[in-house]
Amino acid sequence: MTALAARYRELVAADELRPDPDQERAVAHLAELSKALEVAPRRGSILWRALGRKPEPIRGVYLWGGVGRGKSMLMDLFFECLAMPSKRRVHFHEFMLDVHNRLRAERAKEKGDPVLPVADALRDQARLLALDEMVVNNTADAAILSRVFTALLEKGVTVVTTSNRPPVDLYKDGQNRELFLPFIDLISERLDIVPLNGPTDYRLDRLGGMPTWYVPNGEAATVQLREAFFRLTDYSPDDAAHVPSEDIDVAGGRSLHVPKSLKGVAVFSFKRLCGEARGAPDYLAVARKYHTVIIVGIPVMGPEKRNEAARFKTLIDALYEYKVKLLAAADAQPTALYESGDGAFEFERTASRLIEMQSADYMAAGHGI
Ligand SMILES: Nc1ncnc2c1ncn2[C@@H]1O[C@H](COP(=O)(O)OP(=O)(O)OP(=O)(O)O)[C@@H](O)[C@H]1O
Ligand SMILES: [Mg+2]
Repeated sequence: MTALAARYRELVAADELRPDPDQERAVAHLAELSKALEVAPRRGSILWRALGRKPEPIRGVYLWGGVGRGKSMLMDLFFECLAMPSKRRVHFHEFMLDVHNRLRAERAKEKGDPVLPVADALRDQARLLALDEMVVNNTADAAILSRVFTALLEKGVTVVTTSNRPPVDLYKDGQNRELFLPFIDLISERLDIVPLNGPTDYRLDRLGGMPTWYVPNGEAATVQLREAFFRLTDYSPDDAAHVPSEDIDVAGGRSLHVPKSLKGVAVFSFKRLCGEARGAPDYLAVARKYHTVIIVGIPVMGPEKRNEAARFKTLIDALYEYKVKLLAAADAQPTALYESGDGAFEFERTASRLIEMQSADYMAAGHGI
């Protein structure tokens, strides 16, 4: 049995995961891929040269399904268990930022087509690329994806990716979609399309109907939000002090410190997120990368806090646009957060969004769609 299949069984036996036939099928698929990758001769090795021809490329996997079905969880298990040094796991959004930055640097050299050297560098970095949450909603990404992926697959990189949509629905109503169709064909040809679309949204299940908006700020709210964080990430409360932090890239070459960042869940204080000079690019980076954001310390605002309130509005717009799930501790309910004075009218839409974001429909919606 592969390490992945063994690990998955262990987690089910230990009651950490509920038995799920769709997941078992996906595990079997990923386990086959692990085996193939682990025995594949390295490019340029003696065995590889002895074959006298290019070895067959190893087909990747495109794992798609509704939210909370366990796609990221399975991809992480697969990645952890894979005994292969040349591997990289990255969130799709970060991968695209990285690709755009590399292309920009190559273009500056004015040495012709920048795609090939970028693909070479990516191949040298990792032969197995695991991309979480593929979603394409801008023309710049759509235009570049096909070319970069063609080059990567051509160079023997194996791609494993997760998405909320099947390949045919990627960039569904996007501009100039016809230019994107070759990418969809490429994915269908070179990756096995594996649905993981069982009946249970485990993320929602884990929250078990917990409220998402806590009033007022204080110890009781903190305890609840901590509990939600542990349920969502499986992190032991004993290790609370050691939850990893992360610096994420923001468009424009800046970065943003995320004090707690684990399994697609980020925790911030209002002060850190809206009390400093931050703007839409920062909030969009957060919204694309995290499926769930926990914010503590949201105060009641008025004209004297108009800068903070303006940033908060931009933040909520970004989270709402990307269907990020929000859990928060605040000193008031959304409609009472900015009740009177200059700016109150503009805040109404934010309050309305905050209410909608607590609804069952919103909580069950896919990230980024
Ligand atoms: N079989 C299971 N039993 C219990 N919990 C599970 C099971 N599968 C997944 N989970 C948990 O459910 C939560 C959601 O899983 P995960 O994040 O992998 O979903 P996803 O399919 O990637 O969702 P999204 O599309 O929103 O990214 C995680 O906390 C995960 O550990
Ligand atoms: Mg996921």
